[in-house]
Amino acid sequence: MKTLRTVDELRAALNGPRRAGHSIGLVPTMGALHEGHLSLIRRARASCDQVVVTLFVNPAQFGDPDDLAAYPRDEAQDGVLADAAGADILFTPSAGEVYPLGFATTVTVDEISAPLEGAQRGPAHFAGVATVVTKLLNMAQPDVAFFGQKDAQQVAVIRRVVRDLDIPVRIEVGETIRDSDGVALSSRNVRLRAADRRRAVALRRGLDAVRACHAAGERDPTILAAIGRAAMAELGVEPEYLELVAPESFAPVNSVRDEPVLVAVAARVGDVRLIDNDILD
Ligand code: PAF
Repeated sequence: MKTLRTVDELRAALNGPRRAGHSIGLVPTMGALHEGHLSLIRRARASCDQVVVTLFVNPAQFGDPDDLAAYPRDEAQDGVLADAAGADILFTPSAGEVYPLGFATTVTVDEISAPLEGAQRGPAHFAGVATVVTKLLNMAQPDVAFFGQKDAQQVAVIRRVVRDLDIPVRIEVGETIRDSDGVALSSRNVRLRAADRRRAVALRRGLDAVRACHAAGERDPTILAAIGRAAMAELGVEPEYLELVAPESFAPVNSVRDEPVLVAVAARVGDVRLIDNDILD
């Protein structure tokens, strides 16, 4: 596996394979790789000739400077893991390479970026994600890009960017990978104190309670959400949001009947903000 730091190096490395007709898979990450990322890298390895993993902690998507500073970083360890999972290239540009002096363009996606994560993290969050992902797609020009379902709203925003800007890439989404107790893997989990790690299961409990109540025949999203919140409260965790929305538009739903519905949840557990989701169909 090669580690590359500039767009010129990346383009030069991909020119040959592209001319030879080889397919290119891109797995964008902010590092602190865990099994969720590794499953995406393996999936890319299984279906693409060249696998590029990007490692860039994107300052533009962090509203809170403390959150950016606390984001776990270990390039050496990430390199070992990405290599073992099958990456050919680890692309880890500097902030100056991604946002050179005079950088003045932002990709914003209306409506879908506003609720839930957009409301909690501020409008800059998804603009930062959309801008950096657009740039990474333009830098590597992959055939396929891989993202995790845990960040469901991010996936919906990226799909919209790709569609609206006619970016020639296929988006593939890997299922959420969980610890044995059901907690969704996240780079932020390492920051949980032991007692908070135990309470982190509350998000999954909330989602499971909604699923069970839906399976028992409840169709009212307000009641389903209240059941989910109550299950979380039993573990002393209050969600920032637990809402039932349409999976593509992220608009609230009035009932859970014919169409699939996404149940999205976020909560602060101790000092760490966690998100998770489930699809009822
Ligand atoms: O999901 C992430 O790790 C980031 O939001 C992404 C897609 C790499 C963009 O910085």
